[in-house]
Amino acid sequence: MRTTPTLAVAAAVAAPLALAQDSSSSKRGLCYVSTSNSNTDDAIWDGSNSDLTWYYNYASTPTSGIDGTKLQYVPMQWGAPSSNTDMTFYNNVKSLIEGGTKINYVLAFNEPDGCANGGSCVDAQTAAETWIREIEPLKTQYGVRLGAPAVTGAPTGFTWLQNFFTACAGNCSADFIPVHWYGNFQGLASHVGQVNATYPNMTMWVTEYALAEGSLDDSQQFYNQSASWFDRLDYVTHYSYFGAFRSDVSNVGPNAAMLTQKGQLTDIGAWYLGQEETGNKPKGGAAQVAKFAGWAAVVVGSMMWMLT
Ligand SMILES: *[C@@H]1O[C@H](CO)[C@@H](O)[C@H](O)[C@H]1NC(C)=O
Ligand SMILES: *[C@@H]1O[C@H](CO)[C@@H](O)[C@H](O)[C@H]1NC(C)=O
Ligand SMILES: *[C@@H]1O[C@H](CO)[C@@H](O)[C@H](O)[C@H]1NC(C)=O
Ligand SMILES: *[C@@H]1O[C@H](CO)[C@@H](O)[C@H](O)[C@H]1NC(C)=O
Repeated sequence: MRTTPTLAVAAAVAAPLALAQDSSSSKRGLCYVSTSNSNTDDAIWDGSNSDLTWYYNYASTPTSGIDGTKLQYVPMQWGAPSSNTDMTFYNNVKSLIEGGTKINYVLAFNEPDGCANGGSCVDAQTAAETWIREIEPLKTQYGVRLGAPAVTGAPTGFTWLQNFFTACAGNCSADFIPVHWYGNFQGLASHVGQVNATYPNMTMWVTEYALAEGSLDDSQQFYNQSASWFDRLDYVTHYSYFGAFRSDVSNVGPNAAMLTQKGQLTDIGAWYLGQEETGNKPKGGAAQVAKFAGWAAVVVGSMMWMLT
């Protein structure tokens, strides 16, 4: 199910792991998920009391509760529009730039190799055409740096990405590779190593990751290990932990969440923001499964793959 660590990865993992996690990191961003409590919780993420520097929201227009803060917005072309002349994504980003919003990066296609659990289910050919029409011009006209399609952490991700670049025939100039991972630290390190081996000259953004459905101790240990590893890895330039929501609506288990069921920062949430731990314990919700449907668009495909 998981890939076997390569020698290079094993060496990277064997490097000493720092224990202290309350150090700041400008690589950290917010993987923003809209929930029924967002209006209350948005202020936690505004960056005034944290070292978050950027956010994305799976969309091409900013989130009002975060807009105008020090977090730089990173638009995402979530899927492919149904019409092959649609320019909505391009036009939205162009308006932001021309209106004075600083847009240095865009992301493209959320888990296109997944057709359930939030995957955008786009075939490589359609994605390549969409990219050439709407995404590549943002680079040639505005100098925006482009994230390759954000495939799942499953083996289908590698195949899909290869098919995508083949379909592009040299016309999709991605600047960095987004990575998703749900599983333990060894699996994460192995996967990141495999992506690095496949695309050795590209920097990486880990745009979704968590230990799904782990115990609180395991989730905290996973968080500590992965954050300190990303901070040390030169080729991981950005990362965004999947957990910017309350524990009772978390679709990766309550213990991964950065907020408790009452909207207070958990220890992981506080560490992620560069603050002192809170001791607040996350609790699950009785109706947790039912609530997932509300934000199905961002529920991850790779998680289900890991758990089955
Ligand atoms: C994670 O890091 C924090 C902050 O340094 C530390 O207090 C905590 O004990 C660590 N937890 C684990 C499980 O490593
Ligand atoms: C890639 O660009 C070249 C040169 O502009 C063009 O001839 C070719 O048709 C393009 N290929 C695709 C798949 O768009
Ligand atoms: C990433 O790839 C580069 C180029 O192949 C290699 O030098 C480096 O050791 C790799 N890093 C890891 C952690 O595998
Ligand atoms: C990576 O960069 C090196 C040095 O610039 C170059 O020799 C090599 O061909 C590149 N590899 C790929 C896969 O682009």
